[in-house]
Amino acid sequence: MRAQLPVAEAGGTVRVGDAPEPVPAADEALVAVEAYSVNRGETFQLDGRLDRRWPGWRPGKDVAGTVVRAAADGTGPAAGTRVVAHPPAYGWAERAAVPVHSIAALPDSVDAVTAAALPLAGITALRLLRAAGPVAGRRVLITGASGGVGHYVTELAASSGAAVTAVSATRERGARLLELGAHAVVTSPADAQGPYDVVLESVGGDSLPAALARLAPGGLLVWFGQASRDPVTLDFFDFFKGPAQARIAHFDYTRADTTYADELTTLVRLVASGRLHPEIGSVRDWSRTADVVADIRARRVRGNAVLTVG
Ligand SMILES: NC(=O)c1ccc[n+]([C@@H]2O[C@H](COP(=O)([O-])OP(=O)(O)OC[C@H]3O[C@@H](n4cnc5c(N)ncnc54)[C@H](OP(=O)(O)O)[C@@H]3O)[C@@H](O)[C@H]2O)c1
Repeated sequence: MRAQLPVAEAGGTVRVGDAPEPVPAADEALVAVEAYSVNRGETFQLDGRLDRRWPGWRPGKDVAGTVVRAAADGTGPAAGTRVVAHPPAYGWAERAAVPVHSIAALPDSVDAVTAAALPLAGITALRLLRAAGPVAGRRVLITGASGGVGHYVTELAASSGAAVTAVSATRERGARLLELGAHAVVTSPADAQGPYDVVLESVGGDSLPAALARLAPGGLLVWFGQASRDPVTLDFFDFFKGPAQARIAHFDYTRADTTYADELTTLVRLVASGRLHPEIGSVRDWSRTADVVADIRARRVRGNAVLTVG
């Protein structure tokens, strides 16, 4: 079959080539992929910054399509079921094997392009909000908000009653966030009014210290990414003189007491009932995947980027 193969050019990208047919384990369904999305984390895998321990690694964590062969152990969706899925890898391909604990069925009202935008960013958003604790009536600051995770977190937090301030490079990139319920969009955490009960930080560099300084006493900063790739420098004495008893929390979306299927079922239900609106800034044929990887690196995509497999 055809698949996107990693190549070392241009800091790590892909090209279409031949790959072996997937060989599903007993608890895996074989999915014919109709659409997949590209996440910033996968650009970090392509350039070697993030883990790619799977044998013969190829990228691809977010897919939507149709089950062509159900799992041999009899669990999970039947052949012919339209699904969204979150395999650990290998998803940017014509077919992918996916564990049944990482698959949810799709209703007719949710198309493959919309579904493909859901997994990694949407699962992360749900789990981030659980890590943040109750947000009803709370003030929440989200950095890197114009990205895939940021749009989902903003809409979910705002609809849960939070007053969300979203940070985006430009007001234009942040425009949709206001429509999704953000209270305010600012172009730098230094411009955010605060104080905030919760900060969700994923940019790194100067962004984290600036956002940390805007926490309310007892507030929580969840540190979940470093999109800029710039390391963070923190001065203890600034933190010491800052909000009393503030906390910084580690976050890894893969660690949870729920399955990906549980989260995907929630996300699909929210989309189908009109309560979650994926922001898909780019939809292209999968032959353009390398261009999309470059666009994500250059901050040219708003929300999610989806590729359709012809
Ligand atoms: N810890 C975890 O388990 C976990 C899970 C998922 C994602 N993540 C991380 O969370 C972050 C967000 O993920 P995502 O998929 O939403 O990424 P994304 O779609 O690329 O969004 C990241 C946003 O960061 C902003 N940004 C600010 N400064 C930047 C810079 N110098 N370079 C690049 N982007 C910059 C960009 O918005 P503007 O251009 O508007 O500023 C961009 O839209 C990423 O770092 C990702 O690796 C972590």
